[in-house]
Amino acid sequence: MGFPEQGFLSLMDGWDGLGVVVRRDPEADAWIFVALHDDTLGRPVGGCRMKRYSRPEEGLRDALRLARGMTWKWAAMGLAYGGGKAVLALGRDLSTEERGSLLLRFGELLESLAGAYGTGEDLGTTPEDMRLVATRTRWVVGLPPGEDGPSDPGPYTALGVLAGMRAALAHRHGDGTTLEERTVLVQGVGDVGAPLARLIAAAGGRVLVSDVNGVRAAAVAHEVGGTVVAPSDAYDARCDVYAPCALGATLNDETIERLRCGIVAGSANNQLEAPRHAALLAERGILYAPDYVINGGGAMAFGLLHLGEEEVEGLEARVRGIGDALAEIFAESAARGESPVEAARRRVERVLRAARDR
Ligand code: PHE
Repeated sequence: MGFPEQGFLSLMDGWDGLGVVVRRDPEADAWIFVALHDDTLGRPVGGCRMKRYSRPEEGLRDALRLARGMTWKWAAMGLAYGGGKAVLALGRDLSTEERGSLLLRFGELLESLAGAYGTGEDLGTTPEDMRLVATRTRWVVGLPPGEDGPSDPGPYTALGVLAGMRAALAHRHGDGTTLEERTVLVQGVGDVGAPLARLIAAAGGRVLVSDVNGVRAAAVAHEVGGTVVAPSDAYDARCDVYAPCALGATLNDETIERLRCGIVAGSANNQLEAPRHAALLAERGILYAPDYVINGGGAMAFGLLHLGEEEVEGLEARVRGIGDALAEIFAESAARGESPVEAARRRVERVLRAARDR
């Protein structure tokens, strides 16, 4: 696993986006990257990731790839936002106070961008963090617009992944297939993986739980009547569905050979280490649900609320629509004898082209 080391300039050179706002934050020994990828459909909006990186360049790489993924995600769902992503790249662990003040400075930066970018929760940030950021800026999308309403996108993302998983199972095993008697390996039981494990268990599925945090894995496994699988064994586990719900790039030369599942359907962003890994999965007969389509539920729920296009009561039904989108993508890719990644890209291009022609 791993990417070749690249510097800022060569990373930017290989990227097709609008631009990046870069801010050095010496107080927290951090870098803030706000990558703006595309505004064809609307203002760039995407999550705010906070993570330690061995080099700031790795944070920039994440921001660039994730921002592009957001363009595709909004387009695949047909929502009027563009693609962007914020990464707060940490050089060391922060105290609670340092972390909080970094988030406030991030909020001030967003406010200074005057709406050029809106943000929400992502890996390493919480609904509380978003509330903190929102004390400095109007441009937090990942919070309910009113006093009440949901504040956590995770359960909506999980709901969309479950709908996509059902679509993948139906594509493979025929309509009427259920999750009963199926085994799903959930890798990473955080904000999305944990609610996903609960939904699968509630639908009668068997859950294998893997997490780098052994305590968390044991707790979720206990709760859903599942079995813990050690992180190093996750790729070799026999299962119907492998659901990557943690970091990206877990589908690579080393892991794809080891997989013993029929379907990959999970919430992580950027699951394929490189585009060619989609073909490798197809060669092995593994059905892959494109990450940015299946994991859009959280962004969709909050996007719909902020655009005023849906009430809280209607969100779950809208998010379940992700299953229908994936069913179409699987059907189109099967008809053309190509990977679902290509059918998904065509869907995105159709939406973007229609918007440009308008
Ligand atoms: N973390 C979300 C994603 O990657 C981004 C998001 C969350 C955007 C909430 C808006 C609101 O899809």
